[in-house]
Amino acid sequence: MIQIEQLSKTYQTKHGTVKGVDDVSLEVKTGEIFGIVGYSGAGKSSLIRCINLLERPTSGTVKVGGQDLTKLKGDELRKARLKIGMIFQHFYLISQKTVAENISFALRAAGTPSKNIGTRVDELLDMVGLSDKRDVYPAQLSGGQKQRVGIARALANEPAVLLCDEATSALDPNTTLSILRLLKDINRKLNITIVLITHEMNVVKEICDRMAVMQGGRVIEEGRVYDIFADPKTALTKEFISSVVSFNVPEEILARCDGTIVKVLFKGEVAGEGIISDMLQSYPVKGNFLHGAIEYIQELPLGIFVMELKGGQTEVSQAITYLEQRDAIVEVMNDGN
Ligand SMILES: Nc1ncnc2c1ncn2[C@@H]1O[C@H](COP(=O)(O)OP(=O)(O)OP(=O)(O)O)[C@@H](O)[C@H]1O
Ligand SMILES: [Mg+2]
Repeated sequence: MIQIEQLSKTYQTKHGTVKGVDDVSLEVKTGEIFGIVGYSGAGKSSLIRCINLLERPTSGTVKVGGQDLTKLKGDELRKARLKIGMIFQHFYLISQKTVAENISFALRAAGTPSKNIGTRVDELLDMVGLSDKRDVYPAQLSGGQKQRVGIARALANEPAVLLCDEATSALDPNTTLSILRLLKDINRKLNITIVLITHEMNVVKEICDRMAVMQGGRVIEEGRVYDIFADPKTALTKEFISSVVSFNVPEEILARCDGTIVKVLFKGEVAGEGIISDMLQSYPVKGNFLHGAIEYIQELPLGIFVMELKGGQTEVSQAITYLEQRDAIVEVMNDGN
Protein backbone atom coordinates (compact mmCIF):
# COMPACT_ATOMS: atom_id res chain seq x y z
CA MET A 1 0.00 0.00 0.00
CA ILE A 2 2.82 2.42 0.89
CA GLN A 3 6.13 1.71 -0.77
CA ILE A 4 9.05 3.92 0.13
CA GLU A 5 12.12 3.28 -1.96
CA GLN A 6 15.59 4.65 -1.34
CA LEU A 7 14.15 7.84 0.01
CA SER A 8 16.46 10.64 1.10
CA LYS A 9 15.68 14.15 2.26
CA THR A 10 18.42 16.72 2.76
CA TYR A 11 17.84 20.24 3.96
CA GLN A 12 19.94 23.22 2.88
CA THR A 13 20.60 25.48 5.83
CA LYS A 14 22.85 28.47 6.49
CA HIS A 15 25.27 26.07 8.12
CA GLY A 16 25.36 23.58 5.27
CA THR A 17 23.30 20.55 4.34
CA VAL A 18 21.49 18.43 6.93
CA LYS A 19 20.36 14.88 6.23
CA GLY A 20 16.84 14.38 7.54
CA VAL A 21 16.23 11.00 5.89
CA ASP A 22 19.05 8.88 4.55
CA ASP A 23 18.24 6.15 2.03
CA VAL A 24 15.14 4.64 3.63
CA SER A 25 13.18 1.81 2.02
CA LEU A 26 10.03 0.58 3.76
CA GLU A 27 6.78 -1.09 2.89
CA VAL A 28 3.56 -0.62 4.82
CA LYS A 29 0.76 -3.05 4.05
CA THR A 30 -2.88 -2.16 3.54
CA GLY A 31 -4.78 -2.06 6.81
CA GLU A 32 -1.83 -2.34 9.13
CA ILE A 33 -0.71 0.00 11.87
CA PHE A 34 2.96 0.73 11.35
CA GLY A 35 5.00 2.47 14.05
CA ILE A 36 8.22 4.40 13.58
CA VAL A 37 10.24 5.10 16.72
CA GLY A 38 13.38 7.08 17.26
CA TYR A 39 14.81 9.83 19.40
CA SER A 40 14.51 13.51 18.61
CA GLY A 41 16.25 14.35 15.34
CA ALA A 42 16.18 10.75 14.06
CA GLY A 43 14.26 11.86 10.98
CA LYS A 44 10.79 10.55 11.83
CA SER A 45 8.87 13.71 10.93
CA SER A 46 10.97 14.24 7.80
CA LEU A 47 10.09 10.72 6.68
CA ILE A 48 6.38 10.87 7.45
CA ARG A 49 6.11 14.30 5.79
CA CYS A 50 7.66 12.82 2.65
CA ILE A 51 4.85 10.24 2.54
CA ASN A 52 2.27 12.90 1.68
CA LEU A 53 4.83 15.19 0.07
CA LEU A 54 4.49 17.91 2.69
CA GLU A 55 8.23 17.65 2.13
CA ARG A 56 9.45 16.81 -1.34
CA PRO A 57 12.04 14.01 -1.14
CA THR A 58 15.50 14.90 -2.42
CA SER A 59 15.66 11.48 -4.04
CA GLY A 60 13.76 8.21 -4.02
CA THR A 61 10.10 7.40 -4.52
CA VAL A 62 6.93 7.16 -2.45
CA LYS A 63 4.09 5.08 -3.82
CA VAL A 64 0.69 5.10 -2.18
CA GLY A 65 -1.78 2.61 -3.59
CA GLY A 66 0.60 2.01 -6.47
CA GLN A 67 0.75 5.68 -7.46
CA ASP A 68 4.16 7.36 -7.37
CA LEU A 69 3.45 10.65 -5.58
CA THR A 70 6.86 12.11 -6.38
CA LYS A 71 5.79 12.27 -10.04
CA LEU A 72 2.66 14.32 -9.32
CA LYS A 73 2.23 18.09 -9.31
CA GLY A 74 -0.54 20.64 -8.81
CA ASP A 75 -4.09 19.33 -8.98
CA GLU A 76 -3.10 15.69 -9.32
CA LEU A 77 -1.00 15.88 -6.20
CA ARG A 78 -3.76 17.70 -4.32
CA LYS A 79 -6.21 14.95 -5.25
CA ALA A 80 -3.82 12.19 -4.18
CA ARG A 81 -3.22 13.99 -0.89
CA LEU A 82 -6.92 13.97 -0.03
CA LYS A 83 -6.55 10.21 0.37
CA ILE A 84 -3.88 10.73 3.03
CA GLY A 85 -5.08 12.21 6.33
CA MET A 86 -2.69 13.53 8.94
CA ILE A 87 -2.81 14.38 12.64
CA PHE A 88 -0.22 16.26 14.67
CA GLN A 89 1.09 16.62 18.19
CA HIS A 90 -0.24 20.17 18.49
CA PHE A 91 -3.55 19.48 16.71
CA TYR A 92 -3.50 22.63 14.51
CA LEU A 93 -7.20 23.40 14.86
CA ILE A 94 -8.50 26.78 13.72
CA SER A 95 -9.28 28.57 16.97
CA GLN A 96 -11.88 30.98 15.51
CA LYS A 97 -13.95 28.10 14.14
CA THR A 98 -16.20 25.69 16.04
CA VAL A 99 -15.55 21.96 16.10
CA ALA A 100 -18.09 21.40 13.30
CA GLU A 101 -16.61 24.26 11.25
CA ASN A 102 -13.10 22.87 11.63
CA ILE A 103 -14.26 19.60 10.15
CA SER A 104 -16.46 21.07 7.43
CA PHE A 105 -13.53 23.24 6.35
CA ALA A 106 -11.71 20.06 5.25
CA LEU A 107 -14.82 18.80 3.47
CA ARG A 108 -15.29 22.09 1.60
CA ALA A 109 -11.65 22.17 0.59
CA ALA A 110 -12.18 18.79 -1.08
CA GLY A 111 -15.25 20.05 -2.94
CA THR A 112 -17.93 18.17 -0.97
CA PRO A 113 -21.39 19.50 -1.97
CA SER A 114 -22.80 21.80 0.77
CA LYS A 115 -25.92 19.70 1.21
CA ASN A 116 -23.84 16.69 2.28
CA ILE A 117 -21.59 18.47 4.71
CA GLY A 118 -23.86 18.59 7.79
CA THR A 119 -24.57 14.86 7.77
CA ARG A 120 -20.93 13.97 7.17
CA VAL A 121 -19.80 16.20 10.06
CA ASP A 122 -22.31 14.49 12.35
CA GLU A 123 -21.08 11.05 11.26
CA LEU A 124 -17.48 12.02 11.92
CA LEU A 125 -18.27 13.51 15.33
CA ASP A 126 -20.12 10.35 16.24
CA MET A 127 -17.15 8.23 15.17
CA VAL A 128 -14.76 10.11 17.47
CA GLY A 129 -17.25 10.41 20.34
CA LEU A 130 -17.70 14.18 20.25
CA SER A 131 -21.30 14.64 19.11
CA ASP A 132 -22.01 16.89 22.10
CA LYS A 133 -19.15 19.29 21.24
CA ARG A 134 -20.35 20.19 17.76
CA ASP A 135 -20.68 23.94 18.31
CA VAL A 136 -17.93 24.46 20.83
CA TYR A 137 -14.64 26.30 20.11
CA PRO A 138 -11.26 24.50 20.42
CA ALA A 139 -10.28 26.58 23.46
CA GLN A 140 -13.11 24.91 25.38
CA LEU A 141 -11.79 21.40 24.71
CA SER A 142 -9.30 19.21 26.56
CA GLY A 143 -6.18 17.99 24.73
CA GLY A 144 -7.71 14.58 24.11
CA GLN A 145 -10.89 16.16 22.73
CA LYS A 146 -8.85 18.43 20.47
CA GLN A 147 -7.04 15.41 19.06
CA ARG A 148 -10.42 13.74 18.45
CA VAL A 149 -11.39 16.76 16.35
CA GLY A 150 -8.03 16.42 14.57
CA ILE A 151 -8.84 12.78 13.83
CA ALA A 152 -12.36 13.60 12.60
CA ARG A 153 -10.92 16.28 10.32
CA ALA A 154 -8.23 13.92 9.01
CA LEU A 155 -10.87 11.28 8.22
CA ALA A 156 -13.30 13.72 6.63
CA ASN A 157 -12.47 12.83 3.03
CA GLU A 158 -12.28 9.08 3.62
CA PRO A 159 -8.54 8.70 3.28
CA ALA A 160 -6.92 5.32 2.71
CA VAL A 161 -3.97 6.32 4.90
CA LEU A 162 -3.72 8.16 8.19
CA LEU A 163 -0.36 9.63 9.19
CA CYS A 164 0.15 10.45 12.87
CA ASP A 165 3.11 12.61 13.90
CA GLU A 166 3.50 12.29 17.69
CA ALA A 167 -0.29 12.41 17.96
CA THR A 168 -0.31 11.50 21.65
CA SER A 169 2.89 13.19 22.83
CA ALA A 170 1.07 16.18 24.30
CA LEU A 171 -1.39 13.98 26.22
CA ASP A 172 -1.37 12.32 29.64
CA PRO A 173 -1.14 8.51 29.80
CA ASN A 174 -4.87 7.85 30.20
CA THR A 175 -5.83 10.20 27.40
CA THR A 176 -3.07 8.70 25.27
CA LEU A 177 -4.59 5.28 25.79
CA SER A 178 -8.07 6.46 24.82
CA ILE A 179 -6.75 8.09 21.63
CA LEU A 180 -4.76 4.95 20.75
CA ARG A 181 -7.88 2.83 21.25
CA LEU A 182 -9.82 5.17 19.00
CA LEU A 183 -7.14 4.89 16.31
CA LYS A 184 -7.19 1.11 16.54
CA ASP A 185 -10.96 1.09 16.38
CA ILE A 186 -10.93 3.28 13.28
CA ASN A 187 -8.23 1.10 11.73
CA ARG A 188 -10.33 -2.04 12.22
CA LYS A 189 -13.64 -0.48 11.17
CA LEU A 190 -12.43 1.40 8.09
CA ASN A 191 -9.44 -0.79 7.21
CA ILE A 192 -7.43 2.42 7.02
CA THR A 193 -3.65 2.07 6.94
CA ILE A 194 -2.01 3.96 9.80
CA VAL A 195 1.60 5.12 10.03
CA LEU A 196 2.44 6.60 13.38
CA ILE A 197 5.64 8.05 14.66
CA THR A 198 6.51 8.34 18.29
CA HIS A 199 9.40 8.34 20.72
CA GLU A 200 7.34 6.25 23.15
CA MET A 201 7.67 2.50 22.83
CA ASN A 202 4.48 1.90 24.84
CA VAL A 203 2.51 3.55 22.02
CA VAL A 204 3.97 1.01 19.60
CA LYS A 205 3.38 -1.86 21.99
CA GLU A 206 -0.23 -0.80 22.44
CA ILE A 207 -1.42 -0.68 18.84
CA CYS A 208 1.18 -1.32 16.15
CA ASP A 209 1.43 -4.47 14.05
CA ARG A 210 4.89 -3.76 12.65
CA MET A 211 7.51 -1.17 13.39
CA ALA A 212 10.77 0.43 12.35
CA VAL A 213 13.45 2.07 14.48
CA MET A 214 15.16 5.17 13.08
CA GLN A 215 18.51 6.69 13.96
CA GLY A 216 20.45 9.37 12.09
CA GLY A 217 17.93 9.41 9.23
CA ARG A 218 18.19 5.66 8.64
CA VAL A 219 16.03 2.68 9.52
CA ILE A 220 18.21 0.48 11.70
CA GLU A 221 15.69 -2.23 12.53
CA GLU A 222 12.23 -3.27 11.41
CA GLY A 223 9.81 -6.12 11.81
CA ARG A 224 6.73 -7.37 13.64
CA VAL A 225 6.36 -5.56 16.95
CA TYR A 226 6.14 -8.89 18.79
CA ASP A 227 9.33 -10.22 17.21
CA ILE A 228 11.22 -7.04 17.93
CA PHE A 229 10.14 -7.09 21.58
CA ALA A 230 11.12 -10.75 21.81
CA ASP A 231 14.46 -10.44 20.08
CA PRO A 232 15.72 -6.90 19.48
CA LYS A 233 18.92 -6.72 17.45
CA THR A 234 20.33 -3.25 18.03
CA ALA A 235 21.37 -1.53 21.26
CA LEU A 236 19.01 1.37 20.53
CA THR A 237 16.01 -0.92 20.11
CA LYS A 238 16.92 -2.67 23.36
CA GLU A 239 17.03 0.69 25.06
CA PHE A 240 13.58 1.62 23.76
CA ILE A 241 12.14 -1.70 24.88
CA SER A 242 13.65 -1.43 28.34
CA SER A 243 11.53 1.68 28.91
CA VAL A 244 8.42 -0.51 28.65
CA VAL A 245 9.51 -4.01 29.57
CA SER A 246 12.19 -4.15 32.19
CA PHE A 247 14.18 -7.29 32.96
CA ASN A 248 16.49 -5.44 35.26
CA VAL A 249 17.52 -7.00 38.51
CA PRO A 250 19.01 -4.64 41.13
CA GLU A 251 22.81 -4.55 41.21
CA GLU A 252 22.96 -5.55 44.89
CA ILE A 253 21.07 -8.75 44.14
CA LEU A 254 23.26 -9.57 41.14
CA ALA A 255 26.36 -8.95 43.27
CA ARG A 256 25.18 -11.62 45.71
CA CYS A 257 24.84 -14.23 42.92
CA ASP A 258 27.80 -16.47 42.20
CA GLY A 259 26.08 -18.67 39.61
CA THR A 260 25.36 -18.09 35.93
CA ILE A 261 22.68 -15.48 35.37
CA VAL A 262 20.46 -16.12 32.38
CA LYS A 263 17.60 -14.28 30.77
CA VAL A 264 15.14 -16.82 29.38
CA LEU A 265 12.48 -15.79 26.94
CA PHE A 266 9.49 -17.82 25.77
CA LYS A 267 7.57 -16.71 22.71
CA GLY A 268 3.91 -17.30 21.99
CA GLU A 269 1.92 -19.95 23.79
CA VAL A 270 4.89 -21.80 25.23
CA ALA A 271 4.46 -22.49 28.94
CA GLY A 272 7.76 -21.17 30.21
CA GLU A 273 7.55 -22.11 33.86
CA GLY A 274 6.80 -25.75 33.04
CA ILE A 275 9.81 -25.99 30.76
CA ILE A 276 12.06 -24.45 33.38
CA SER A 277 10.87 -26.91 36.00
CA ASP A 278 11.43 -29.81 33.56
CA MET A 279 14.96 -28.52 33.10
CA LEU A 280 15.57 -28.32 36.84
CA GLN A 281 14.38 -31.91 37.26
CA SER A 282 16.48 -33.25 34.38
CA TYR A 283 19.81 -31.61 35.20
CA PRO A 284 21.74 -31.36 38.46
CA VAL A 285 21.55 -27.58 38.59
CA LYS A 286 19.80 -25.29 41.04
CA GLY A 287 17.76 -22.36 39.81
CA ASN A 288 16.86 -19.16 41.64
CA PHE A 289 14.29 -16.93 40.02
CA LEU A 290 15.35 -13.28 40.09
CA HIS A 291 12.65 -11.86 37.84
CA GLY A 292 9.61 -13.21 36.05
CA ALA A 293 6.88 -11.65 33.96
CA ILE A 294 4.53 -12.39 31.15
CA GLU A 295 4.07 -9.45 28.82
CA TYR A 296 1.28 -9.33 26.29
CA ILE A 297 2.17 -7.75 22.97
CA GLN A 298 -0.52 -7.74 20.30
CA GLU A 299 -2.37 -10.12 22.63
CA LEU A 300 0.41 -12.68 22.35
CA PRO A 301 2.19 -13.70 25.55
CA LEU A 302 5.92 -13.23 25.92
CA GLY A 303 7.35 -14.94 29.01
CA ILE A 304 10.50 -13.42 30.45
CA PHE A 305 12.47 -14.93 33.31
CA VAL A 306 15.79 -13.97 34.79
CA MET A 307 17.37 -16.68 36.89
CA GLU A 308 20.58 -17.76 38.49
CA LEU A 309 21.73 -21.28 37.59
CA LYS A 310 24.12 -23.00 39.98
CA GLY A 311 26.01 -26.18 39.35
CA GLY A 312 29.00 -27.51 37.44
CA GLN A 313 29.83 -25.62 34.26
CA THR A 314 29.05 -28.58 32.01
CA GLU A 315 25.70 -29.17 33.70
CA VAL A 316 24.77 -25.50 33.48
CA SER A 317 25.55 -25.35 29.77
CA GLN A 318 23.63 -28.60 29.20
CA ALA A 319 20.67 -27.09 31.02
CA ILE A 320 20.86 -23.99 28.81
CA THR A 321 21.02 -26.14 25.68
CA TYR A 322 17.95 -28.01 26.92
CA LEU A 323 16.01 -24.72 27.26
CA GLU A 324 17.05 -23.70 23.77
CA GLN A 325 15.91 -27.05 22.40
CA ARG A 326 12.52 -26.31 23.93
CA ASP A 327 12.37 -23.04 21.94
CA ALA A 328 13.49 -20.65 24.65
CA ILE A 329 15.75 -17.74 23.74
CA VAL A 330 18.50 -17.76 26.37
CA GLU A 331 20.97 -14.97 27.00
CA VAL A 332 23.77 -15.40 29.54
CA MET A 333 24.14 -12.13 31.42
CA ASN A 334 27.35 -12.93 33.29
CA ASP A 335 29.98 -15.64 33.09
CA GLY A 336 29.25 -17.20 36.46
CA ASN A 337 32.16 -18.81 38.22
N1 LIG B 1 13.01 22.24 7.71
C1 LIG B 1 14.20 21.84 8.10
N2 LIG B 1 15.33 22.52 7.80
C2 LIG B 1 16.55 22.11 8.18
N3 LIG B 1 16.77 20.97 8.88
C3 LIG B 1 15.69 20.24 9.22
C4 LIG B 1 14.36 20.63 8.87
N4 LIG B 1 13.49 19.70 9.34
C5 LIG B 1 14.25 18.78 9.97
N5 LIG B 1 15.57 19.09 9.91
C6 LIG B 1 16.69 18.30 10.45
O1 LIG B 1 16.55 16.96 10.04
C7 LIG B 1 16.86 16.06 11.07
C8 LIG B 1 15.64 15.18 11.36
O2 LIG B 1 14.61 15.98 11.91
P1 LIG B 1 13.14 15.46 12.15
O3 LIG B 1 12.29 16.62 12.54
O4 LIG B 1 12.70 14.66 10.99
O5 LIG B 1 13.36 14.49 13.40
P2 LIG B 1 12.31 13.79 14.36
O6 LIG B 1 12.75 12.38 14.49
O7 LIG B 1 10.94 14.05 13.90
O8 LIG B 1 12.58 14.53 15.75
P3 LIG B 1 11.53 14.92 16.93
O9 LIG B 1 11.30 13.68 17.72
O10 LIG B 1 12.27 15.95 17.71
O11 LIG B 1 10.28 15.46 16.30
C9 LIG B 1 17.29 16.91 12.25
O12 LIG B 1 18.68 16.99 12.24
C10 LIG B 1 16.65 18.26 11.96
O13 LIG B 1 17.41 19.29 12.52
MG1 LIG C 1 9.29 15.04 14.71
